[in-house]
Amino acid sequence: MLESRPETKLLDLEPATQTFHDDVIAGLGGAPKTLPCKYFYDQRGSRLFDQICQLDEYYLTRTELEIMRTYAAEMCAGIGSGVMLVEYGSGSSTKTRLILDHLEAPAAYVPVDISRSHLHRSADALSRLYPDVEVLPVCADFTTPFHLPQPRIRPTHHAVYFPGSTIGNFQPEAARRILANIATLCGRGGGLLVGIDLQKDHRTLEAAYNDAAGVTAAFNLNLLERIKLELQGDVDIEQFSHRAVYDAERGRVEISVVSQCEQVMTVGDRSFKLESGEAIRTEFSHKYTIDGFAEMASGVGLTLRRHWTDTAGMFAVLHLVIVD
Ligand code: AVI
Repeated sequence: MLESRPETKLLDLEPATQTFHDDVIAGLGGAPKTLPCKYFYDQRGSRLFDQICQLDEYYLTRTELEIMRTYAAEMCAGIGSGVMLVEYGSGSSTKTRLILDHLEAPAAYVPVDISRSHLHRSADALSRLYPDVEVLPVCADFTTPFHLPQPRIRPTHHAVYFPGSTIGNFQPEAARRILANIATLCGRGGGLLVGIDLQKDHRTLEAAYNDAAGVTAAFNLNLLERIKLELQGDVDIEQFSHRAVYDAERGRVEISVVSQCEQVMTVGDRSFKLESGEAIRTEFSHKYTIDGFAEMASGVGLTLRRHWTDTAGMFAVLHLVIVD
């Protein structure tokens, strides 16, 4: 970083834009340089992510869906009746409907999402589809503790549904904290149904994050577009390329934007020098083994009860429970 003044304000920014600005400044000021992956998902980024989920190379979405289609009934039998089901994410997907189709007399369904508009749109749609289920949307960031609403029917127990391998985008310490919060939220008798991507060969993993059509590259580089548009950053996006490599030892795909030349990037009154070939890390996508994930979860009191995989063993859905 060429300058370092911690209290920089960029004109009069909306609070969310100020936070984005502060996070960008903090990330670019670090060594190595980083940008938080949560900022991938503006309107364009969310559209690109939807496209990623349809790609041939990106096996995750269709494989998890296949597992859910095959085993949702078994999963829901394991969760049991009278549950208050809390979903991390807006719950707009087919996977949510598969769960709600099979759960016996759920006390309530609580989608939790940081995007208010997205959350209310999908909650309204689900209320129409499941008129007998009380849908209680909560606008919150599930990475920190939040309060559950009071349902009309008293639940027998609580369970969290956390699909999509989204937990893989958190580093181990943060993932453990999220699991610990889930254990506290659900309490005794509660549980977690979570989708995780499994460790596999380099070729399959790197193809999934380096698709031939360049959609993942556009998704990744969109972070720089946001800096340019929303923070009036001086960024030559043409001089960056997308990179995704699998580190088998750490069990994670490491995703970056890489500077193609020596250059300076400016955000507000801060300038950041980049060497040719220097990477700004934008995301980790952790790949687990079932035993490895179960061990991490057991550290916070969640015990693996059952798991389901596709026939090729690419992806898994785990049911973990809180026992005394
Ligand atoms: C949201 N998450 C599970 C995706 C993943 O596979 O880690 C995000 C993603 N990044 C690039 N492609 C997809």
